Amino acid sequence: MKLLLDRELSGFPYRAYKFALRRLVKQVQPYHPVAMDGCALSPGERDCSDRWAVISRVLGQGADTLADLGCAEGYFVSRAAKEYGCFAIGIDADVRRLTVAQDVNVINKNENAGFMYAHLSTDFLRKLPQFDVVVFLAVLHHIMYEHGVDYARDLMRCIRVITKKNLVFEMGQSNETSMYWAKLLPDMGPEPHKWIQEFLLSCGFSRAENAGETDAYHSNSRRSIFVAYP
Ligand SMILES: C[S@@+](CC[C@H](N)C(=O)[O-])C[C@H]1O[C@@H](n2cnc3c(N)ncnc32)[C@H](O)[C@@H]1O
Repeated sequence: MKLLLDRELSGFPYRAYKFALRRLVKQVQPYHPVAMDGCALSPGERDCSDRWAVISRVLGQGADTLADLGCAEGYFVSRAAKEYGCFAIGIDADVRRLTVAQDVNVINKNENAGFMYAHLSTDFLRKLPQFDVVVFLAVLHHIMYEHGVDYARDLMRCIRVITKKNLVFEMGQSNETSMYWAKLLPDMGPEPHKWIQEFLLSCGFSRAENAGETDAYHSNSRRSIFVAYP
């Protein structure tokens, strides 16, 4: 007799559920590439390969646990669990993206990856345990223009506390002038990468290395991908 654990989902409800999930992926217009049962459902709006190359390099140095804060559809979480056997968790407050992340991950039977609905705030981050690697990509500028630089710095200090080995970090810059939020950020001057590096050090990170570059979202500017050390 088959173990209860091994039983497969089957029949009309399961097919209907997968159909609904495919429709949801179309509606969400994913930020990340999404694949289900080995078939690509969406290429994603943002190229993730250059950022994954940096995360992969960091994981290759040895990491058991990873948290992706603002994980969207969970591309980095899924790959960290699948390719490096990490206990990997993604956290996001967008119900649609998180539903895609979680449901697709379970259907793909990707072990050791999971997703949590939560708003990233200093109060929330203070409750988290440490992770070997924390990924925080393309989120902080939104928090910075909404809540100010001082709050963004407090949040980064909380992230430093939960970072055991490395933070992989990237954010929007004030020179991305085609984006509505660029003028709401502090003026990062002619060298935004340097400004961000100094900002990370001001949050208590002991080192912040420029580990690569990535395209900015819908803009011609280049962003720096930082690997920071607590
Ligand atoms: C621009 S996307 C970046 C996604 C992913 N980190 C990446 O770079 O590929 C920002 C993501 O962060 C999430 N997000 C932004 N602010 C958040 C907050 N305060 N709490 C939780 N999630 C947040 C959004 O829902 C969205 O999925």
